[in-house]
Amino acid sequence: MELRSVDEVMDLLYACRGSWDSPGPPDGRADLHQHALRTAALLRRGRPADKELQVAGLVHAIGPLLSPGAGHAHPDRAADAVRALLGERVARLVRSHHRAGPDSDDDLLRLRHADEESRHGGFDAGVLEDWRTVLELVADRNSRLGAVD
Ligand SMILES: [Fe+2]
Repeated sequence: MELRSVDEVMDLLYACRGSWDSPGPPDGRADLHQHALRTAALLRRGRPADKELQVAGLVHAIGPLLSPGAGHAHPDRAADAVRALLGERVARLVRSHHRAGPDSDDDLLRLRHADEESRHGGFDAGVLEDWRTVLELVADRNSRLGAVD
C-alpha cells in the first residue's frame, strides 16, 4: 500500500489510536498514536530544523496498521508506504530504525533514542493536527525534487 497524500497519512495516524505494536495487555503503554506523537516531539526538541527527521519519527510506527500480523516486516511496509510521498531519506530512516547499523549514522541514532525514550513516562506531545503543515512541507519539497529528476 502506498500513501498518496498528507490526508492519507493523517488518517492512518488517527487510526493508530488504540493500537499497540506488540501483543498483550497495554499496561499503560502509549498506543501507536501517542508513540508517534512523542517520538516526533522528541526529535523536534533535539533537531528543530530537521523536518524530515521529525516526520520519520511521526510515521515510523504505522507498519502494524498497514499489514497486521506482518511481524518484523513492519518497518519495510511502512517505508514502502511513505517513500513516494515523503521521500527516500524518510523511507530509509523508517526502514532502518530497528536494524543493526553503523553507529556513525547520527540520524538513525537520534530516531532510535527518541523511539525508545517515547515509550517511557508520559508527557504531553501535542496533537496530530500540529503536524499537518510539517508533513505538507516535506511532501511538497519531495515532489519538487522528484519533478527535477
Ligand atoms: Fe517505535
